[in-house]
Amino acid sequence: MNVHVYENFDTLSKEAAKRVEEQLAEKKASVLGLATGSTPIGLYQKMSEGVKKRGMSYRYVQTINLDEYLGLDPAHPRSYHTFMEEHLFKHIDLPEANRHLPNGKPGSVEEECLRYERLIDSIGPIDLQILGLGTNGHIGFNEPGTAEDEETHCVQLADSTREDNARFFGSIDEVPTHAITMGIRSILKSKEILLLASGKNKAEAVKTLLEKKVTKEFPASFLWNHDNVTLMVDREAYGLV
Ligand code: GLP
Repeated sequence: MNVHVYENFDTLSKEAAKRVEEQLAEKKASVLGLATGSTPIGLYQKMSEGVKKRGMSYRYVQTINLDEYLGLDPAHPRSYHTFMEEHLFKHIDLPEANRHLPNGKPGSVEEECLRYERLIDSIGPIDLQILGLGTNGHIGFNEPGTAEDEETHCVQLADSTREDNARFFGSIDEVPTHAITMGIRSILKSKEILLLASGKNKAEAVKTLLEKKVTKEFPASFLWNHDNVTLMVDREAYGLV
């Protein structure tokens, strides 16, 4: 794992966007794995600026998102579909047909998970996967206790994750209890992974990750089993290392 420490959130976001743009320069039809949460918002802003100011294009790109809340319609204001639309998709020229997220309101959850994993395999492998880091070490919505060989599956969200994400909803009671997420195995199929962490509240998780102890109690630690991962952190998130 390469570790890069940046001065602040802005520089971290700029450097992550630079890597995305390099990827597109190497391969116009890249497959990008995308994440939600506060951390990638800066990156998405820079990617949007790239289209407006630097002539970047996502015309041939395919995107695959990590996860979606179960029970939320794509049009729900707090769905990850809406999040991606607001923070990235509406600002770039990525065709609608090339944007992929799990359906949070499927007829059958089991079939939706299978469909999504097949989709990852058919348009993948993902060239560059963006990940955020949960305070409990989750990646996507792979909570502590997830096995390394899980593919896309339905999870029950940890209380701490629902508390962390309550800020996006009116109250914790409105945060869904379950989600569909790419599994650790699905994530590790990616050719390259960028793990982003910013701010003091991630310092403990970054410290645990860098102890290199691979355990299902801290799902991000499975990233040590991949040979092309870059951890991009700002000073605050690196503060306890
Ligand atoms: C959510 C997402 C994760 C994300 C995590 C951290 O739980 N499912 O993919 O990494 O939040 O979010 P934040 O960046 O807001 O701290």
